[in-house]
Amino acid sequence: MFRKRHLISIRDFTREEMEAVLRRAEELERHARPDLMRGRILANLFFEPSTRTRLSFETAMKRLGGEVLNLDSEEASSMAKGETLSDTVRVIGGYADAIVLRHSREGAARMAAEVSGVPVINAGDGAGQHPTQTLLDLYTIRRESHLEGLRIAMVGDLKYGRTVHSLAYALALYGARIYPVAPEGLALPADLQEDLRHSGARLQPVKSLQEALRKADVLYVTRIQKERFPDPQEYRRVAGSYRITLDLLRRAPKGLVILHPLPRVDEIDPRVDGTPYARYFRQAYYGVPVRMAVLSLLLPRRGKGEA
Ligand code: NCD
Repeated sequence: MFRKRHLISIRDFTREEMEAVLRRAEELERHARPDLMRGRILANLFFEPSTRTRLSFETAMKRLGGEVLNLDSEEASSMAKGETLSDTVRVIGGYADAIVLRHSREGAARMAAEVSGVPVINAGDGAGQHPTQTLLDLYTIRRESHLEGLRIAMVGDLKYGRTVHSLAYALALYGARIYPVAPEGLALPADLQEDLRHSGARLQPVKSLQEALRKADVLYVTRIQKERFPDPQEYRRVAGSYRITLDLLRRAPKGLVILHPLPRVDEIDPRVDGTPYARYFRQAYYGVPVRMAVLSLLLPRRGKGEA
């Protein structure tokens, strides 16, 4: 069923394959399996900042009995001496059983997969994709709301937000209705919209955040991706242009679930954290069982007699 060699884009997945990950995550959330990764080593290569993704991969690997190597920046590695990413990946593939890579360049993970002797997991490539975040988002939506017939408002930086890009593709396979809400200049790129429609996504324009809020089961809020703006002036123009507050939520439907891949800056008022709508910290927690599932499916235990 799960024959992936690498995990680069959520678009490489069928709905059945995503379901297989979610099922495995549920099993592993219920029963830890400290035997599954015994003797295995995972290399975390993070060339962009990360808290949740890096540490939840590390937690997942350790909970399954494995070990983790960490490389945190180009400055701390031989890349500072001019070594290419491709050589770095080739070498680390000789030390570790799998590589988790985060990089600012779109396509970096795909390139790494081409030269790596071991599975590569894309932990974010520029504004491209972030497939394991999507799997944990799907898991969260299933656990905290529902995936079938989902109506979801995607709010914030839809242009540069890789979590939105991956999630929208996955939700297309579930026939979800998507209400995009973005500040001017940060809408979903036209080619992506086109691709999404081809994949079956139902993108439905809304006039305001309030309208999206009234219609949605899930509000998926994102941070403006400051680091992707070619011009800091442009960032300042849109910074702080939307914010989820208690006041805004006064007319929210009762079962509304608010998600955010985190980190948040100012797009959700911390006073929202105490409401029943806020599920973003649970969402971050679900990163562990989902990444345990990903690791166990990409690195199945060797059968008896295999090398
Ligand atoms: C996201 C990312 O890196 O794309 N963070 C994460 O992995 N949870 C979202 C973001 O940085 O805004």
